Formats: sequence, structure tokens, C-alpha cells
Amino acid sequence: MAVSRRRNTATDSRHTTMHIHRQIDALRSALADAGRIAFVPTMGNLHAGHIALIEAAREHADCVVASIFVNRLQFAPNEDFDRYPRTFEADSAALSAAGAHQLFAPDEIALYPEPQRYQVVPDPDQADILEGHFRPGFFNGVATVVMKLFQIVRPDVALFGKKDFQQLMVVRNMVRQFAMPIQIIGHATLRDSDGLALSSRNGYLSAEQRAEAPRLHRQLQAVRAELSGGCQDWLGLEARAMAELSKHGWRPQYIAIRRRADLKSPALSDRELVVLGAAFLGGTRLIDNVEVDV
Ligand code: PAF
Repeated sequence: MAVSRRRNTATDSRHTTMHIHRQIDALRSALADAGRIAFVPTMGNLHAGHIALIEAAREHADCVVASIFVNRLQFAPNEDFDRYPRTFEADSAALSAAGAHQLFAPDEIALYPEPQRYQVVPDPDQADILEGHFRPGFFNGVATVVMKLFQIVRPDVALFGKKDFQQLMVVRNMVRQFAMPIQIIGHATLRDSDGLALSSRNGYLSAEQRAEAPRLHRQLQAVRAELSGGCQDWLGLEARAMAELSKHGWRPQYIAIRRRADLKSPALSDRELVVLGAAFLGGTRLIDNVEVDV
């Protein structure tokens, strides 16, 4: 299937025809002579953050491949796999308009024709903390599907949003440890004007929750300001930010000040830090992070 869109910006009048593939073999054939490939894996329900990844990908390659696949392996039984929004028509139109050349959108039978018994188990030091602590098995599911997609697409470069900071780190380390010839690029988080990080899950929020939601980012920024000002009472800062969220009806899971390089607790001499947070607002789990150089 092909979706055609005439791009119409002052800087780019290229006519892009995006081809949609449901089967692994069809995608592989289409990519046989594709030249340098940039890849953006997604679970669909796309927002401007995904589109920014596609636009950035075009700077790195001849051919931009996107995927849409809601990966059951990375959802726990009590999570939102079933209600995760499937918005294929809007997503494929947006990807085509952004200049993607190929879209891989397999169903579960095409990607997992038999139970996926061989899986990638990331380093527990990095995958069982923070997100992995609260979502056991999450990074096994992510690493397994990303490995499989990388084997299918064989990209030269792959782009991931920094909102999922730990995911980006796990993927980077997987690629390095398996000596995969893929450059991993982290792209800055896109935010609404009130600071809320764009996320497919923001759509679950009621109007009232949406108004409250930017508080997570504000708390992370408040911690960043304290760190920049020289405060090294990390536990105190984390506890105060969690308490502030709780006071406003959130159920925070963690606010954590970590070393950017490996997400371990920082030493007093560490300069490159990241403050990460995850919290429930009603039934919706939001995550965010801010980087800080102290
Ligand atoms: O970040 C996501 O949307 C997913 O975790 C990914 C990387 C597409 C794997 O399913």
C-alpha cells in the first residue's frame, strides 16, 4: 500500500510516497536498495514528538523507516495494552506528511508468529531500577522487540525520544554490547507550552488532570534549580518533590537524581546528572526527566 503526500513547506517541496508493509519479507524487499536507513520505532498514537523524530531522521539517511507496533511483551497484565489507542489512519497520514518513506506495521502474528521464547535480557543494573523496578519485565519486552525490529530493518541510525531516558540508555547499551552497527540518537523531549512532555498517554487525562499534569515537570525543574544552586542533599530534594506531588493528589513512584551516564546514584564529584520522575495522576502514569549540569 502507498500513501502519497505533497510536502508544501518553504524549505522542502519533495513529494514523498510512503509505502506500508505488514509483512517482514515485504519490508525487507523494499529496503534492499534503500541506501542509508534511519529508523524510528513507535507504538503509534503519534504526537508531535514522534513527528520531530521522523523529521530529524531525514537529516541522517536516504530512507526513513517508521514502525507502528503495540508490543504486548512490554506491558504487564495489569497495564494498558488493550486500551492503548490504535489510530492507524491518522498515524500513517502524519508519518507520510513528515516524510517517512517506509512504514512497517505488522500485526502480532506477523511479528510474533510463534511465542517469542528467545528474549533479550538487559543488564539488571540498568533495567531493574526506576522504570524497571515499577514495571518488572518492561525492558526485556522493549529490548526484545527493538532487537527484532533492528534485525528486520537493519538501520544505520535509529532515533528515540529522551522522554524515555532509561529506554534510550538500555537500547544504547544493547547495541554496544551486541556490536550492532547502528548509531543511536536521542532526541530532545517535545513539550506543550505549559511544560507537559508530549506522550501518547496524555490522551487518557481528563480536562482537570490535564491542567494539573505539568506539575510533574515543574517539580523536576525545581529539583534541577536546587542542584544548579549547589544543593547535594539528593535524598531530601527527592523526598520534597514526591511530597509536593502527593499533596496535589498524585501517587508518585519515584523522583530520582541520577548520574546521566549510567543512572546510578551520583557521587559528590559527578557533574552530569538527570532528574527522573514517574507518578500516577488518577489512573494515568506519567514519566518525565530533566538533565542538569552542576
Ligand atoms: O517508546 C516506545 O514507543 C516503545 O517502547 C518502542 C521503542 C517503540 C518499543 O516498543
